[in-house]
Amino acid sequence: MDYIIYASTAVALLSDNELRDRLESYRTANLEHGITGLLMYHDGNWIQYIEGNAVDQLYENIRADISHKGVITLDKGGVSDRVFPDWSMGYQPENPEDHQTVTAFFDLNKAEIDRRLTREMPRSVRILMSGFYRLGSRFANRR
Ligand SMILES: Cc1cc2nc3c(=O)[nH]c(=O)nc-3n(C[C@H](O)[C@H](O)[C@H](O)COP(=O)(O)O)c2cc1C
Repeated sequence: MDYIIYASTAVALLSDNELRDRLESYRTANLEHGITGLLMYHDGNWIQYIEGNAVDQLYENIRADISHKGVITLDKGGVSDRVFPDWSMGYQPENPEDHQTVTAFFDLNKAEIDRRLTREMPRSVRILMSGFYRLGSRFANRR
């Protein structure tokens, strides 16, 4: 099974509502196409790990998406087994409580990151994703 991990920058900061809408539409599409993984948004920056048999096609769509820029492929390769059982998206909404019931949402905090970034995933992916989180929280003005 193929995987790709990339990072990019949103052309404009996204509101909690916009993030939630995207979560819902990406989740539905990914379920349909057998794509699993992890998408994280922080302060206008994106990082996503996707795995499945149709990642190339999805990645082509993502690269062509004009709502972000500077898409950079960080790593790609193969995994013998799916690393993630599902697809989820993490960010830091103003009120995480409001998002608690949103399927596939997780609050971007250290405990959730530690829980999701396990040793089963490719090492590069773990390092890139934890680095994204640590860098984000270092420069964040809250939490
Ligand atoms: C950062 C980012 C991540 C995205 N992740 C996904 C995703 O995981 N699944 C998905 O179907 N679309 C995702 N999209 C949306 C795609 O770029 C594209 O809009 C979507 O695949 C619909 O394409 P279509 O209009 O050709 O069907 C993402 C877009 C961005 C900017």
